[in-house]
Amino acid sequence: MHHDLGEILLRKPEPHDVEALYAWKNDPEVGNLLVGFTTGYTRADLSKWVDFHRAAADEAFFMIVRKVDDRAIGHVAFYQLNHRLGTGDFAILLGDKAAWGKGIGRACTRYLCAYGFEQLNLRRITLGVLATNDRAHKLYQSLGFVEEGRLRKAQLKQGAFVDVILMSLFREEFTP
Ligand SMILES: CC(C)(COP(=O)(O)OP(=O)(O)OC[C@H]1O[C@@H](n2cnc3c(N)ncnc32)[C@H](O)[C@@H]1OP(=O)(O)O)[C@@H](O)C(=O)NCCC(=O)NCCS
Repeated sequence: MHHDLGEILLRKPEPHDVEALYAWKNDPEVGNLLVGFTTGYTRADLSKWVDFHRAAADEAFFMIVRKVDDRAIGHVAFYQLNHRLGTGDFAILLGDKAAWGKGIGRACTRYLCAYGFEQLNLRRITLGVLATNDRAHKLYQSLGFVEEGRLRKAQLKQGAFVDVILMSLFREEFTP
């Protein structure tokens, strides 16, 4: 299923996304903003990654794609969906740095949270964000996410240990 967000589409990962993934999944500047990131992906790793996320039953996983040329610029997803509890773990990665700061991250996060509450019947959306990732932290706060704890100095980024801020969002807190 495709989701149309104007200049952007959300769609399933496809084998031809590997080239775009290879460029930005190996970019250390991107990796420094993410919880639990590893660089050094080969094309074969990413081909397996595509197959995995196409098939994963407990995810709602989408590539973020430019409509004009179908080029993948990132991905956005719920992981570990639990339909009994109505919970899902959110994450977004805009890998193409030229796409940062133009409202795409906000539009995709807002869209997916609405989709989670309305279509997947989620009750509670969770996420983890590095305390050093101001842009992402501000975005989540502005959509209503509330800090519920911190994993102190839990990640290693550029030689320093960094806190991970745990956040959650309930339907009634969501301010799209
Ligand atoms: C974080 C990310 C999803 C944000 O998406 P984006 O399209 O770049 O950001 P947007 O243009 O939608 O802006 C969203 C909000 O971020 C904040 N923001 C934007 N640029 C910022 C900057 N340079 N510094 C601090 N905050 C900034 C603002 O609060 C902004 O909202 P506003 O424009 O209404 O004030 C995206 O930059 C990204 O994926 N970065 C790399 C990976 C990453 O950090 N993922 C998140 C891991 S938790």
